[in-house]
Amino acid sequence: MVSGAAGYTVSEPTHIHVCDRKIVKISDEIPTTSNIYDCKNQLVTPGFIDCHTHLIYAGNRANEFEMRLNGVPYQEIAKQGGGILSTVRATREASEEQLIELALPRLDGLIRTGVTSVEVKSGYGLTLSDEIKMLRAAKALEDHRAIRVTPTLLAAHALPPEYVGKADDYIDFICQEIIPLVAEEQLATSVDVFCESIGFNLDQTEKVFLAAHQHGLKIKGHTEQLSNLGGTALTARHEGLSADHIEFLDEQGVAAMAQSGTVATLLPGAFYFLRETQLPPIALLREHSVPMAIATDLNPGTSPFADLTMMMNMGCTLFGLTPEETLRGVTCNAARALGYGESRGQIQVGFDADLAIWDVSHPADFSYQQGVPRLSARLVNGKISYV
Ligand code: NIG
Ligand code: FE
Repeated sequence: MVSGAAGYTVSEPTHIHVCDRKIVKISDEIPTTSNIYDCKNQLVTPGFIDCHTHLIYAGNRANEFEMRLNGVPYQEIAKQGGGILSTVRATREASEEQLIELALPRLDGLIRTGVTSVEVKSGYGLTLSDEIKMLRAAKALEDHRAIRVTPTLLAAHALPPEYVGKADDYIDFICQEIIPLVAEEQLATSVDVFCESIGFNLDQTEKVFLAAHQHGLKIKGHTEQLSNLGGTALTARHEGLSADHIEFLDEQGVAAMAQSGTVATLLPGAFYFLRETQLPPIALLREHSVPMAIATDLNPGTSPFADLTMMMNMGCTLFGLTPEETLRGVTCNAARALGYGESRGQIQVGFDADLAIWDVSHPADFSYQQGVPRLSARLVNGKISYV
């Protein structure tokens, strides 16, 4: 079926036995059950995992896209109260139901590119109730589509207007009020911080990480996106699941990631859309065997792209990844970036029964041609789904 797929772990026609939402056997044995889905010799992959999105939001930032093309930099727009804060205003005004309605078409875009698991961050609410509203809306997407959602608390995304000049007080509020409640109500599994000159500094980031640990939550970081502050090494020191963006990462930071097993989540959509020129240190990441994931970063400001295979294409064309690396980047490595390295992202006995069935002739096709529908079906949590 797949010729010339050297380097990929491709098995010839076989049977994947599923029971109780898990893969229980992979063999040539014809199953005895009548409940058989015939993949008709098509390529089956693990369901794709988009491990970094901000897909819950209201509002539209097309005007800022236009401003940037007229020469106003992203940081300047943010300083003028635009950027993340303009989405915060719109998101605060929206109800949980409205946020779900707005998110579904974006989610459908991801689903069309084979996604069965998606991480969704808060971070456009920045009050206790609005952050919780976002996290609940994210999880509720599972009631509307065949999808698994992993919500992440990103209250430390931007300084809310109520706290201007009092960033440390906002960090205390996150640590003392938001994190404990989110942990207690199990609204998120991880906590993320935007560690950047227009976000939060290293001390503030570390305080949030410590509070997250204290409440049993895992850690992720938006780090080294626009400058080299050392947020990635800090994330690694705290055994973060992933450090994301990392265009400005240096070798020390790469070595720290290698030591802690932190995944490098690459976000070529944001790099492309912001017309950045600083490339992430791919050669160093390879040299130090740091696992690389690829994600959409789907958000209204820096990456309005609801298409994961397009990110695989950009990972190859912009960052020089191979199609095989991008495939790992949306399967096993993306699973690791969410803390599911032992249960998702591979077709293995004991793993969750999340699969994608494709009308493609070679695994490199995912990174190659774009815009042609080629997903035949998905299996999500053991159940077949045609959308
Ligand atoms: O991942 N870097 C910070 N957060 C988002 C941007 C969010 C926005 O501009 O609304 C990102 O690129
Ligand atoms: Fe992001």
